[in-house]
Order: sequence, then C-alpha cells, then structure tokens
Amino acid sequence: MLANDFILNTRISGRMSYSSPLRYPGGKGKLAGFFSQLITANGLEGGTYIEPFAGGAGVAMSLLAEGKVGNIVINDIDRPIHAFWQAVLDRPEDMARKIRETAVTVEEWRKQKKIQRAPDANVFDLGFSTFFLNRTNRSGVLDGGPIGGLEQKGTYKIDARYNPERLAGIVEHIGSLSEHIQLYGTDAEDFIRKVLPDQDRDSTLVYLDPPYYQKGAYLYMNYYSHWDHLRLSEAVDECAHHWVVSYDDDPAIRDFYRPYRRREFCLDYSAYERRKGREIMFFSDELEVPDDLLLPGQRDNLSLLEDTRPFVQTTLI
Ligand SMILES: C[S@@+](CC[C@H](N)C(=O)[O-])C[C@H]1O[C@@H](n2cnc3c(N)ncnc32)[C@H](O)[C@@H]1O
Repeated sequence: MLANDFILNTRISGRMSYSSPLRYPGGKGKLAGFFSQLITANGLEGGTYIEPFAGGAGVAMSLLAEGKVGNIVINDIDRPIHAFWQAVLDRPEDMARKIRETAVTVEEWRKQKKIQRAPDANVFDLGFSTFFLNRTNRSGVLDGGPIGGLEQKGTYKIDARYNPERLAGIVEHIGSLSEHIQLYGTDAEDFIRKVLPDQDRDSTLVYLDPPYYQKGAYLYMNYYSHWDHLRLSEAVDECAHHWVVSYDDDPAIRDFYRPYRRREFCLDYSAYERRKGREIMFFSDELEVPDDLLLPGQRDNLSLLEDTRPFVQTTLI
C-alpha cells in the first residue's frame, strides 16, 4: 500500500484517525498538517522527527507514513504505553492478529484490566492490554470504565471505538515502517540531555507535548508537578535542536517560556473539558514559522476562539 493510500484509508466516517492506533486525551494528531508544513518551511524533509512525550504519537506516525520525514524517534516513560509500541514494532503481525481475533466484550475488558495490573505481564500481553483498554475505555483514559458502562446500558457500546480491521491495518503498516522508528522508554529530561545530542542538529525537529500543566494529573498516569515543568523548560532552553513545545495555556507556562515566540490555538477535544481547550505553542529561535502557517483555531481565526457556546459532547474520542 502506498503511503498516500494509507493516509486516505485512515479516514473513516469523515473523521481522520491520524495514523495512530491509540486514542489520546488531547492527542495532537490534528496538528500533523501543521508540522508537515513547518518541516517544509525549514527544509527538514527527509530528516528526523522526534517526540520525547510520544503517547499516541499521531503526528510522528502521520509524518512518517506520508514520507515527509525519513525517521522518527518516539519516547514515553509510561510502561504500558512503551510496551504497546514495543509490541507493535517487534511483533506487528501478532498484534494485528490479536486485534482482529479478540472479542470486544466486558468479560474480555475485565481480563485485560487484570493483565494491565499484573506486575509480571510480558511486553506483548501488556502492550495489547494497553491497546484494548485504550480503545474500549471512556475517553481512552486507562483507568476509566468501559464505554457504555459495565452493564452496557449507555448509548455507545464497548466496541464503539474498536474497528478491528482498520486498527489491525494501521498496526501492520506501522510494522512495515519499523526500521525507520526508534523507541525509547525513558524520562523526557534524560532523553533531551542524553539521547538528543546524538541526533543530527540540522535535519531534526523535536516536538515536546508534555502532560498538561493544569489537568495532567487527571489525564495521564505519569504527571508533572510545577517544578517538573520548570525543570523541563530549563532542559528545553539548553536544547540545540529545532524544537516546538505545546501546552495548555497557563500563566506559569507562559512565564517559563517567555523568551520564545508563541502562538495560541485550540483543539476541539472532549475529555475532562466542557469547552474547547486553549493551548499554546512555543518555538525555538532558529525555527522559521511562516505567518500564513496557521494552527487550528489560532487567534487570527477569531470565529473559532470566540465561540463561547456551551460545548456539547457528540462524539467519543
Ligand atoms: C500529552 S501526552 C502526549 C500526547 C501525544 N502528543 C499524542 O498526540 O498522543 C504526554 C505523554 O507524556 C508521557 N510522559 C509523562 N511524563 C513523562 C516523562 N517524565 N518522560 C517521558 N514521557 C512522559 C505520558 O505517558 C503521556 O503519554
């Protein structure tokens, strides 16, 4: 399958799945187009794209599938997330088969929940459990309950976000690209200080999407304190590569990154947020950011930011 066919095939019911098999609260897959153009504007095509806080890695997978970059490096400290990516990269065919053959029921959900908690679960089983719970839990939050509830009385049922054929296809495609993907499972700050220096400076773009400053504790298993965010900003400050950082828009974050150019934008997401989320992006000094390259809901596009109607959740992420 050609890369472009793959991108087209991931459009389903008018919604784009952004090439990641994982659902992520605040997932940045919708920014893939922005990053693709940013890479062009900076002559970084064919280079390396790096995410130290990868999560669902939607942008990274899109850019690689599109052939925009030649290699991606993804890192996530969360053991279940890391196990998922490792299982996809090491055993994509087995993972795809397991996705196709597993019954999506509350009974299976209970079984996968136990595996998720088992200290001795092997990488493949833990990785599949992460995937299964991510696709069947409310909002993709790993410790949430199943979509539709344990009694399955909700409007949406447990398999509402589990399309086995489509998801197995994405996993197989990622597997076919595995020689262009490097995976790490370390703390992002260590990653920036110890792994990043080995990457060529001139052909690399680093995108950091840390846990949210305000709601990180609710959304992710590994969250950052105020001081962790501050220390991270110091590590970014010392980073010699081209970088982009995005956050929920908060005065503390603006203060940490005040020397840098910024853009405000908003992503339409639903988890734990009844209104559209305001976000902010910062850019390293040498990165070219064309004025006409707009982010979703950027301030220039006032109609989006000024939409204050109550947010009604109509879709599951
Ligand atoms: C905001 S999410 C990233 C979402 C991602 N951009 C996407 O589109 O799916 C932040 C991720 O950082 C990971 N994380 C949290 N603390 C970390 C740390 N100290 N080092 C590396 N990763 C960390 C979390 O496990 C989570 O997957």
